[in-house]
Parts: sequence; C-alpha cells; structure tokens
Amino acid sequence: MAEIPQTLPSIYTQVVQSSEYLKNLVPEGLKAPRFAIICGSGLGGLRETIHAEPRYEISYKDIPNFAHSTAPGHAGKLVFGLLGESKTPVVLMVGRVHFFEGHSIERVTFPVRVFKLLGVETVIVTNAAGGLNKEYKVGDICVLNDHINMPGFSGAHPLRGPNVDEFGPRFPPLSDAYDLKLRKAAHLAYKKLKLSNPNRKLREGIYAFVSGPSYETRAECRFLLALGADVVGMSTVPEIIVARHCGLRVMAMSLVTNEAIVEPVPRGDSELVQNTAEDKLNDIIEAGKANHEEVLEAGALAATDMQALVKQLVDDLVQ
Ligand code: 6GU
Repeated sequence: MAEIPQTLPSIYTQVVQSSEYLKNLVPEGLKAPRFAIICGSGLGGLRETIHAEPRYEISYKDIPNFAHSTAPGHAGKLVFGLLGESKTPVVLMVGRVHFFEGHSIERVTFPVRVFKLLGVETVIVTNAAGGLNKEYKVGDICVLNDHINMPGFSGAHPLRGPNVDEFGPRFPPLSDAYDLKLRKAAHLAYKKLKLSNPNRKLREGIYAFVSGPSYETRAECRFLLALGADVVGMSTVPEIIVARHCGLRVMAMSLVTNEAIVEPVPRGDSELVQNTAEDKLNDIIEAGKANHEEVLEAGALAATDMQALVKQLVDDLVQ
C-alpha cells in the first residue's frame, strides 16, 4: 500500500482553518450546533424537517479542504438550523462523499473533525444498507450497536498515519463505540412515533463496512453473515471511528433498502438449470440482483419515518 503523503499544512491546521471559516460565516445562534447529522442516500429529506428560519446552507465546494462529489447534483452541502420542538441547533451533512469515489478516507472523515471544533457533542449517522439478517425486511431500520471494518483489516483505516494528538489517542478503543444510552433513547423515541408503515421494525445489529462500489457476491454475503453482520453498506464506519477518536458520542442507523442474497448461485450442473430452456434461464439469472434503483425506492418510502425518529430522538435527548 502506498504511503500516506505528509500533507502540509497538517490535518489539524486544515480542520482549524475550515472550522474558523464556518464560524465566521454561519449566523450567531446556529454556529455552535450540538448535533451533527450525516444523511445517507435518499435520507437528505431531514433538511425539510428543520425549521425554515433561521437556516444557513453552504456547499461543500465552498468550504476550504472539504471534498465534494464532482457528479452534477451530488455536490452536497452543510445545513445549519434548528431541529424539533426543542429548536436544538444542528448541522446536517446533506450528501456525503464515499471512499469508493476515490477520496482518501482522511478526506471522507474530515467533516467530523470540523464538527468537533464547532462544538458538536453527538454525531448521528444514517445510511442505506443491505439486510443480511434473515429476519430483516426491506424498510426496517437498524440501530447499529457494533461494526466490522472490512477495509480496515487490510490497512484502509481512517486513523492510519501519524496520530493527530490534538484529537485523540494513538490507539483508541472502539468496544464502546455505539453509545448504549443513545441506543436506548432511540428505541424509546421510536415507540412514540406515528409510523408511515406500522409494520416497520426498529432492529439493532452489526454493520459490515465494505468499500464498494460493487454490491457483494452471494458468497461474500454468506461470509459477512457468518462473521455476525446483520447489515452491509459502503459508508458510516470511517466517520464513526474518527468521531470516537475525538471523543464524540455516536449513534448510527441503517435503513434496510434490500435483502442481500445469501443463497448460493444456481449451479450450472443442477437439475433445475439443466432442465430449464435457454430462453427461460434469464429469469433465474435476474432473480435477486441488487440494484441502485430499488435501494433508492425503499429509501424514499422509509426516509420519512427515519427522519421523524431522528427528530424525536434529538428532542428527547435535550430535555
Ligand atoms: Cl446489498 N450492499 C452494500 N454494500 N451497500 C448497500 C447495499 C448492499 N444495499 C444498500 N447499500
């Protein structure tokens, strides 16, 4: 693996620069958010749930040192505003950049450190994920209580390189990464909601982070399931690790947008395949393929409930 170039100015200096830049621009009353909420694919609708006034929005491309997606319409922005009955100051990340887009993990997690210097105490992360656990249904929400960092095992880790001592220790623990009190509060908050779909279950489970961008093979899904993972996705874990490193409290949840296929691929020499006519084989081949459209569709339907949960949770936590 290539060595990380020693960037000048240092990461810490860059984080200070970006946070000072924001403190100078964001209006009084919004510039010290208590919560940072990172909105996953299709979950940016949370923007609609914060109060219209006062509100301050800034594109990532206008913030020094922030990575932004170059795809049109995906640039992403920070939204500073007040959330819920409690009018709690929050900052939303609407749109995130992913490791698979080619950004370094250091750059993907950079905003979390900026949030720390803005005075944020708690980070809430949402994402869209594939369900591995057989009990999970499309549209369920899974509160994360642990993770498996697959790229981390081979060295693609957000804390690789010189430790940034200003933020935290060289060897931070992660055994308590997913705050028990926040998880408890999430389950209580969920019970108070009027759900768009009363069958939607709030689960609690383990998230496997893979780098993507391809979806997993069936064998990889069985592998992750055997490791104990309940959901699989391409984000969140780098941000969580960097948040824990600098002492932020963390709460994360996945919207189950599709059921990952764990059954083995049909064998070419099986009776079923051998006895199926050539022109019917496509049905067998197509069955159960993960696709981005179904992920976005399930996201759109369940996103409102997830947004309501985040709002209720923040209100409950600040009481
Ligand atoms: Cl099935 N896999 C991954 N890696 N990410 C996903 C997903 C699956 N579904 C939504 N996001």
